[in-house]
Amino acid sequence: MANKADLIVGIQWGDEGKGKIVDMLAQKYDMVCRSQGGHNAGHTIWVDGVRYALHLVPSGVLNKDAINIIGNGVVLAPQSLIKEMEQFNESLEGRLFISDKAHLNLPYHSLVDIAREKLKGDKAIGTTGKGIGPAYADKINRVGHRVGELLDETKLCDSIMVEFAQNRPLYEALGVKTPSKDELLTQLKEYKKVLAPFIANTTKMVWDALDSNKKILLEGAQGTLLDIDHGTYPYVTSSSTVSAGACTGLGISPKDIGEVTGIVKAYTTRVGHGPFPTEDFGDVGETLANVGKEVGTTTGRGRRCGWFDAVIVKHSSRLNGCDQFALMKLDVLDGFETIKICVAYEYKGKRIDYVPSDLENVKPIYEDIKGWDTVEGINEFDKLPQGAKDYITRIEELTNTKVGIISTSPDRNDTIVL
Ligand code: GDP
Ligand code: IMO
Ligand code: MG
Repeated sequence: MANKADLIVGIQWGDEGKGKIVDMLAQKYDMVCRSQGGHNAGHTIWVDGVRYALHLVPSGVLNKDAINIIGNGVVLAPQSLIKEMEQFNESLEGRLFISDKAHLNLPYHSLVDIAREKLKGDKAIGTTGKGIGPAYADKINRVGHRVGELLDETKLCDSIMVEFAQNRPLYEALGVKTPSKDELLTQLKEYKKVLAPFIANTTKMVWDALDSNKKILLEGAQGTLLDIDHGTYPYVTSSSTVSAGACTGLGISPKDIGEVTGIVKAYTTRVGHGPFPTEDFGDVGETLANVGKEVGTTTGRGRRCGWFDAVIVKHSSRLNGCDQFALMKLDVLDGFETIKICVAYEYKGKRIDYVPSDLENVKPIYEDIKGWDTVEGINEFDKLPQGAKDYITRIEELTNTKVGIISTSPDRNDTIVL
């Protein structure tokens, strides 16, 4: 029987700590795949005091024996990937492959993204400004360009120039300056020179790996509440961030998915605008932001912070079919006398325990849990203080999902696997 691919998915609004867990697990996997998103993702890995920030390169890259795949569902910014590849002292040729069907996210997409956000004023989404929405919009409008087209850069250049001509009034209204034909061709030639050896039919590669019993790990980007369908629309990203998205984003069937691990922060954070019921504007939010070093890996923006919201986490577990959670950043709650968990919402005068589509209209209902001294750096379950054990048990009860991994520092080694 063919193997199944295990999946890692963000459960809240992203930045849960997916990079750390994928890196840790990747030591035991033959292949790590990204299936959606782009360089809006920022996955941080710490190994022996060295920090790696990954945006497009899958977090399996530090395992020298693993093959890394950027799937067809990703929007790929060549200039960003080329820069990212430079942080490694060796070539990734033979270890990194990009789907020829992934869509190109070119510099003008980013300019359009930023210009549109500016025009929206106080209705802005707070995007990363990386061109993600415009690149996916072109794909859905069937005017996008795929990575495979880079191999004939002259033809690609001609067809992008036709689009520039058609869209000139739009670009002018947005104040976006598009490159000249010569500038564009020079850019595309450079992308082709560096990236051509990496372009492949990655769906076939994943099938072959599954059929020959290789171990495959699928690395989600963003988080469930940022999903284009199931997130807090319109304050979402433009891809399917839930586990089902990994199938279309790689070309595998739901039957190919094995164990699903939801990555959950022990409290809640969000970057950008949009509803966030447990957001704390006082000392608690500030402490979580400072102790948790809650600054975006991609944009350097401060993350909004608040208590754990069990209602959204239960909802996300169901949406993604989680077999277990990895509970991250438990150490950031060290030293709080009392910790709060949101167990339900008040919504239209009633108590509810599900996520309504208009999340901006709920008020959180909290339960108090007694805090603990410290869990930082602990890597054995029995050594956790009782308060931390009680917190984990309560999360499991409220979300109907077991916690199988607990993380107590950014380092790969400070992790409890149950
Ligand atoms: P991702 O986007 O889900 O991969 O998460 P990010 O890398 O954007 O943000 C998570 C941040 O938390 C990174 O700076 C990690 O190094 C850090 N981190 C991960 N796990 C832990 C943990 O258990 N404790 C602490 N204190 N930091 C952690
Ligand atoms: P990782 O993979 C947190 C947020 C942006 C914005 C919204 C739309 O590191 O968890 P976009 O640029 O995608 O159009 O922005 O989505 N966002 C993220 N927030 N972590 C991420 O990725 C994110 N990627 C996008 O802040 O609110
Ligand atoms: Mg991140």
